[in-house]
Amino acid sequence: MSENLQVRTPEASFELPITDGTIRATDLKQVPTQRGPLATYDPGFMNTASCRSAITYINGDAGILEYRGYPVNQLAAGASHLEVAYLLLYGELPTPDQLASWEKQINTHRLVHENVRELIDAFRYDAHPMAKLMAGVASMQTFYPSSRRIDDPEAREMNIIRLLGKIPTMAAWAYRHSIGRHFVYPNDELGYVNNFLAMLFQSQQRVYRADPRVSRALEVLFILHADHEQNCSTNAVRSVASAGNDLFTSVGAGIGALFGPLHGGANEAVLGMLREIGTIDRVPDFIAGVKEGRARLMGFGHRVYKNYDPRAKIIKRSCDDVFEVTGVNPLLSIALELEKIALEDEYFVSRRLYPNVDFYSGLIYEALRFPPEMFTVLFAVPRTAGWCAQWLENMTDPDQKIMRPKQIYTGYRERTFVPQDQRG
Ligand code: CMC
Repeated sequence: MSENLQVRTPEASFELPITDGTIRATDLKQVPTQRGPLATYDPGFMNTASCRSAITYINGDAGILEYRGYPVNQLAAGASHLEVAYLLLYGELPTPDQLASWEKQINTHRLVHENVRELIDAFRYDAHPMAKLMAGVASMQTFYPSSRRIDDPEAREMNIIRLLGKIPTMAAWAYRHSIGRHFVYPNDELGYVNNFLAMLFQSQQRVYRADPRVSRALEVLFILHADHEQNCSTNAVRSVASAGNDLFTSVGAGIGALFGPLHGGANEAVLGMLREIGTIDRVPDFIAGVKEGRARLMGFGHRVYKNYDPRAKIIKRSCDDVFEVTGVNPLLSIALELEKIALEDEYFVSRRLYPNVDFYSGLIYEALRFPPEMFTVLFAVPRTAGWCAQWLENMTDPDQKIMRPKQIYTGYRERTFVPQDQRG
């Protein structure tokens, strides 16, 4: 049965078709208003779909997250990150042969051009690793001019493989540069996550071997961060792509968006908050401050989830595995107390604020000895799989156009220019 929306003005009435629970915003243009054709005003895209997508499904009220229809908890329990990346890109889980060939392709593209190494080296010693990563990824467009052939499916695929292969290398080097250590080159013998860990932590004296519990925990974190439909950074990727841009330029913009403390930067902010609180007895005072608007409870709340973020549940369990190897992070008890109080407090309950993916991930990263500036980088590496899939979907969607929102103009009109000597 077809659904319609009836819009009535004093002069006329209009029937707007409803498709997939939405109306086409351009259909509203037939409705006249005193200021011209009717449009919508939606800062922050609170209720606007910008695309059709078959990649990730979220039901925020029920706390459901699925990639291509597979619940994320099942993927986190049984898949590898590269398997999930394949699923996001091609829509199906790979067969064993497809997976072996996919892993081989990605692994042979881990090495980056020496000029990129020099680019990372050129940053100041205290530069944020996200800035180095953003620059490294954006620079790839200059090394691979084929990336500008956005209508060529083979070039698109090749450059996706390059980016997936090289992003851990650039991320690890951004970190090694901050701590003044030599850059570790990729090791063909190691899988995606273990190689990443080795490039981060290998020292000249000893061969680094990751504890399997640590590498599995990181793999799970990678899977949980692989995609999250139309969030701020994915929207940035799609927006930049909509101007006809290559993968590297678009993903570079996504990394910039992810850097923000309200988005991927929240895990870094959570650790800062826990440290500032310092001891369990100060938790009630902090909560009181949040309720009075003096602070935000970082790692809580989500635009889409109005229930416990399913990723946070899995990460909370991963904490136990990691802490078995590293020892318990002393900040965990403060986090648990914050969660306990917040989940019972009317302020948080009525606003449906629950822990999100960033609430516990920072504790794991810290236990693994990552400095807080690396936390968002550890989000960007796996999210690259989702950005690639979303970029590709955008590029091949005939509905898509260059993104160009409207505005409601609130400024002056038709003023007459006053020369400098007659002002003031
Ligand atoms: N602490 C205290 N109050 C909050 C919080 C919070 N973390 N989050 C939302 N609120 C309040 C907010 O003040 C508002 O109250 P009122 O109705 O009285 O004005 C109400 O809840 C609705 O909040 P909002 O800011 O309108 O919600 P939003 O959908 O625009 O923002 C958010 C979502 C994630 C930006 C926000 O919840 C927030 O700032 N959280 C802390 C930062 C954070 O953890 N971000 C990571 C998000 S998950 C990772 C990712 O996908 O990027």
